[in-house]
Amino acid sequence: MPEYVNWLRHASPYINAHRDCTFVVMLPGDGVEHPNFGNIVHDLVLLHSLGVRLVLVHGSRPQIETRLAARGLTPHYHHGMRITDAATLECVIDAVGQLRIAIEARLSMDMAASPMQGSRLRVASGNLVTARPIGVLEGVDYHHTGEVRRVDRKGINRLLDERSIVLLSPLGYSPTGEIFNLACEDVATRAAIDLGADKLLLFGADPGLIDENGRLVRELRPQQVPAHLQRLGSNYQAELLDAAAEACRGGVARSHIVSYAEDGALLTELFTRDGGGTLVAQEQFEVVREAAIEDVGGLLDLISPLEEQGILVRRSREVLEREIEQFSVVEREGMIIACAALYQIADSDAGELACLAVNPEYRHGARGDVLLERIESRARAQGLNTLFVLTTRTAHWFRERGFVPSSVERLPSARASLYNYQRNSKIFEKTL
Ligand SMILES: CC(C)(COP(=O)(O)OP(=O)(O)OC[C@H]1O[C@@H](n2cnc3c(N)ncnc32)[C@H](O)[C@@H]1OP(=O)(O)O)[C@@H](O)C(=O)NCCC(=O)NCCS
Repeated sequence: MPEYVNWLRHASPYINAHRDCTFVVMLPGDGVEHPNFGNIVHDLVLLHSLGVRLVLVHGSRPQIETRLAARGLTPHYHHGMRITDAATLECVIDAVGQLRIAIEARLSMDMAASPMQGSRLRVASGNLVTARPIGVLEGVDYHHTGEVRRVDRKGINRLLDERSIVLLSPLGYSPTGEIFNLACEDVATRAAIDLGADKLLLFGADPGLIDENGRLVRELRPQQVPAHLQRLGSNYQAELLDAAAEACRGGVARSHIVSYAEDGALLTELFTRDGGGTLVAQEQFEVVREAAIEDVGGLLDLISPLEEQGILVRRSREVLEREIEQFSVVEREGMIIACAALYQIADSDAGELACLAVNPEYRHGARGDVLLERIESRARAQGLNTLFVLTTRTAHWFRERGFVPSSVERLPSARASLYNYQRNSKIFEKTL
């Protein structure tokens, strides 16, 4: 089987999960200059075509530096922030204007080449960020360097509803008509928080956060960030991490740091379980885990109504207590909202997936897929090659997930002898 078939199957739960979600993506000026920029734009258009609501925030630092140098101006910084005097502001406007147009052009080109060719796709930008001056700090006047005062949530949401990609530049306007130079990290973080984005994606030069041993940190909580910031000192990696943590504290569930230099880093992060960059996420309030004896009550609440409808085989409390180790569950804020069980079939290299159920109030969240994946990986870990399922009413759900029709004859004898002919379940199997 070609590798891409496998890949697409594994990606499909993520494709469904990301649809209609709002992602704020920040690409610093160095990323726009990088040879991989074209691939990044291509991947962003792909995300857009999969139904993701996209806000792209670009930076412009190296482009500003180039313009300052060309005019013989010396850049001035204080506390790592550029001081934007009148001459510098001209360079900023020039750099940002050109970049914005270049990005719009590139996105237009990619849209024309995408499968959505011909549809009315738009990139929208404008006066969507209101800024205020930083002012004077420790006696130093920052002039036209500003900070985000407000992001036009309504306006941006309307554009996203119309399926536009929203492009935000590191410039903001004040109600007095002044122009302010902003940090793109500030714009991205504030946009993600104010829009209630599902994700903030930050592009950096490295694959993600690298720890003191040179290893990539895959995931961390916002409260673990300060220790890393102390270690990193003041470098760009620290700025990205700080932005990720701030977004999380502001209610954005997941912030990711990925590399702009690595082709496909964004897609790997979004469409594979382990990702490829660093994820800063709030404490997960929903977890998938193996069941424990305390879960029996919750499991009964979940499966009893389905047993009454004849969808699941009846299991008494005693049976559940005895078989609790076979179950995986999804727990949400202390409640068992989904479950599935794996039974190894004696004297065979096969297993049976049973008792898959999602609380009706929590359906349509791909939890069934998550549990199926969990059961499959548990089965593989146990060295099983085949997974059977017996179902009366859910045949198509399993068929759509790679199960093929099977028969009692193909069941290992230990399970075939227990087959309930009265229940007359359909049998399906899947090779692991
Ligand atoms: C099957 C189940 C676990 C999936 O839960 P989920 O991940 O929340 O997924 P959804 O309910 O959103 O269903 C996902 C898709 O499968 C479809 N589906 C749901 N139940 C189905 C069924 N019995 N047969 C065929 N398709 C089904 C849905 O229509 C949906 O498709 P759509 O998005 O194209 O409309 C859940 O529907 C459930 O608990 N069903 C009752 C218990 C059951 O039948 N268990 C299997 C016993 S062997």
